[in-house]
Amino acid sequence: MRRVSTRYLQPGMTVARTIYSSSGKVLLAAGMRITPKYIKRLQDVGVASVYIKDDLFDDLGDIPDVLSEKSRLETTQLVKESFLAMETNQRLNIRAVKEVVDGIIDELLANRDVLFHLADIRSYDDYTFFHSVNVCILSLMTAITLGYNKLKLKELGIGALLHDIGKIRISKEILNKAGELTSKEYKLIRKHPEYGYEILRTYDDVPLLSAHVSLQHHERWDGKGYPRRLAGEQIHEHARIVAVADVYDALLADRPYRPAYSVNQAVTIVSRMSNTYFQSRAVAALVSNIAVFPIGSVVMLSTGQTGIVVDVNSNCPTRPIVKVVFDQYGNKMPKSHEVDLTHLNTVFIAKVLSEEEIVRIFRGSVPEVADL
Ligand SMILES: [Fe+2]
Repeated sequence: MRRVSTRYLQPGMTVARTIYSSSGKVLLAAGMRITPKYIKRLQDVGVASVYIKDDLFDDLGDIPDVLSEKSRLETTQLVKESFLAMETNQRLNIRAVKEVVDGIIDELLANRDVLFHLADIRSYDDYTFFHSVNVCILSLMTAITLGYNKLKLKELGIGALLHDIGKIRISKEILNKAGELTSKEYKLIRKHPEYGYEILRTYDDVPLLSAHVSLQHHERWDGKGYPRRLAGEQIHEHARIVAVADVYDALLADRPYRPAYSVNQAVTIVSRMSNTYFQSRAVAALVSNIAVFPIGSVVMLSTGQTGIVVDVNSNCPTRPIVKVVFDQYGNKMPKSHEVDLTHLNTVFIAKVLSEEEIVRIFRGSVPEVADL
């Protein structure tokens, strides 16, 4: 099994993991053979990548995730309902939000040694909902690493899940515009933190600090953010955490104007934004929870050998366990073997192979480490 970007799917490939829509509907079931019609459908709904079965990299089994698929889908559904309720002038169901957040916190605390893997079901239409759930999970994992107690986790979780609720007051045409925004449109979008705060503070049962997460999630550590240009410790710690999670997750999504970044690219980008956009402490805590090389990634080692990540080490996310399949000359090894990079100080991952490079390996030519 390995991940393949939807752009590189080929008819005849077999789906290894079921793909769901945000409403829990099966878009493509595990075991189905990909046809040109399915490829078009997945591209139309904006699914970025799919796990496919692969003989060379045989079955990896279940990929551990910090949150069960069931909880993820229920939460996505709830965010969707919350946005819909606001659009139709109904009240938010805060009790349901609190229950879901409590459930996520319990699951994350029970899975403390599990790293965050990329969620592989996303579509453009549902982007805000999937994104809100990921921001909530990533923010809570960061906060658990920083030693938050349960009360603070709850405030943070509610704020993170609803951080973009203010967007319901902005026209969909502007929000979903594929082309460049005019300065007027940009100004309007930048109002969503204040709108979110206004909405959330009208609920007595929403903690005020959760509302502040919405208000402050686009502030920057160096004071160049919006709406109030707060800097450093003026920004509430909850909002500093959500700011990192928000940008990190956005980088992983295919957007109309650019393809998704890989996990290690996204980790590098947010790390470089430490001290300007983000507090470095919040970045470090988030990154310590990420499976930098997710299970199923095809990687080249510094030895020139190529293999697939079969497991991760939660105490050392950059050094996973790799099943080596090709030798340094690009020849398939008669017998593959697993290496645990935490035991090999001198070997590291030189690069994650792109889909084009994987196809080249299958044809028997492997890129040189020298041309990375
Ligand atoms: Fe936002």
